[in-house]
Amino acid sequence: MLITGGAGFIGSNFVRKCLSDSSVDLVNLDKLTYAGNLCNLEDIVGESRYVFIRGDICDRHLLAKIFQDYQPSRVVHFAAESHVDRSIHSPADFVQTNVVGTFTLLEESRAYWSALSENDRENFRFLHVSTDEVYGTLDADDPPFSESTPYAPNSPYSASKAGADHLVRAYFHTYGLPVVTTNCSNNYGPYQFPEKLIPLTIHRAIHAEAIPVYGDGRNIRDWLYVGDHCDAIRLVIARGKPGEAYNVGGGNELLNIEVVRTLCSILDDLRPHDPVFPHEKLITFVKDRPGHDRRYAMNFSKIRSELGWSPRETFETGLRKTVEWYLCNQKWASQVTSDAHRQWLASQYSV
Ligand code: NAD
Ligand code: TYD
Repeated sequence: MLITGGAGFIGSNFVRKCLSDSSVDLVNLDKLTYAGNLCNLEDIVGESRYVFIRGDICDRHLLAKIFQDYQPSRVVHFAAESHVDRSIHSPADFVQTNVVGTFTLLEESRAYWSALSENDRENFRFLHVSTDEVYGTLDADDPPFSESTPYAPNSPYSASKAGADHLVRAYFHTYGLPVVTTNCSNNYGPYQFPEKLIPLTIHRAIHAEAIPVYGDGRNIRDWLYVGDHCDAIRLVIARGKPGEAYNVGGGNELLNIEVVRTLCSILDDLRPHDPVFPHEKLITFVKDRPGHDRRYAMNFSKIRSELGWSPRETFETGLRKTVEWYLCNQKWASQVTSDAHRQWLASQYSV
């Protein structure tokens, strides 16, 4: 299986899961941007079924060589620029990786796939990992997004993911490449870079730093534990119908301010001696994100009824587990955010 972006948050959880409970051989291609880090995979170094390659999905010669050398029967495509706030400041990186990178990966997959035997062509799968954000925003009383909701992306991030989704779809209809797409809601869990809401809140709260809540804090996201997302992806690779998209969600619609308050109250329980207590005192309302989508919610009845998937973790159990993980792994958080570590990686894996 060729995985792209396997050193990021969801990809590293996926790699770990596949290695622990299946016999699959994995090749992980990752550029190691600021968001990808080999610390996320430190515990699997030396695993004989796993190969890491540092490189860019926009590099078609490298992709052709990887296909030739490893002959994968599956491609699971996580690699992306994934942070909405960064997409507002530097949209070009998002178009490059998310659109051009996905296109390049599709082209090289097609070239490789076309030359396979008929049997191997039928068995091949390209799974594209996408987001609920391609559907745009919901009002309070709108029904959740379904697979037939029209695309209406509002940020450079979601627009670039929408572009990628359309290319993936086109490669099925035009060339017959056996693709499947998953559109998932907001994930949380171990190894998420501390720039996203949940790890950022934990990181800042334990360092007695202000917790920034955008606007009125009443934007709604549908939260899913990362392990449940990885299970959904594995099921869709195994049994999803080529050409189809599957919505994946947590059924946990929460206001941002509720998420932040719940995190503060878990931290109050676990760290009653922190300098700022209760942790809620750190909550600071800040200027809103431009074009901030108000509400996301997922109707995931298709994957539930067709493939038998539903989330196993509740928000309460998943969030407590997540906070405990970040508290036990503070060294990880300082490593992934340290410039020195990044420079070391650049010299170690220069491309
Ligand atoms: P992440 O930012 O944590 O990781 C992205 C990974 O891709 C990093 O390891 C990075 O180094 C790598 N990468 C970036 N550009 C690359 C390039 N040009 N070539 C090779 N590798 C490159 O992201 P994540 O949160 O793990 O998200 C993974 C995928 O899931 C993305 O496609 C994202 O759109 C999608 N998704 C994320 C969420 C979420 O809540 N995090 C929800 C739904 C869908
Ligand atoms: P984020 O984790 O960036 O994910 P996404 O934008 O992909 O949904 O943000 C989740 C929500 O939290 C979103 O509504 C923006 C909000 N938010 C804050 O209020 N403060 C913050 O510091 C961050 C990073 C996000």
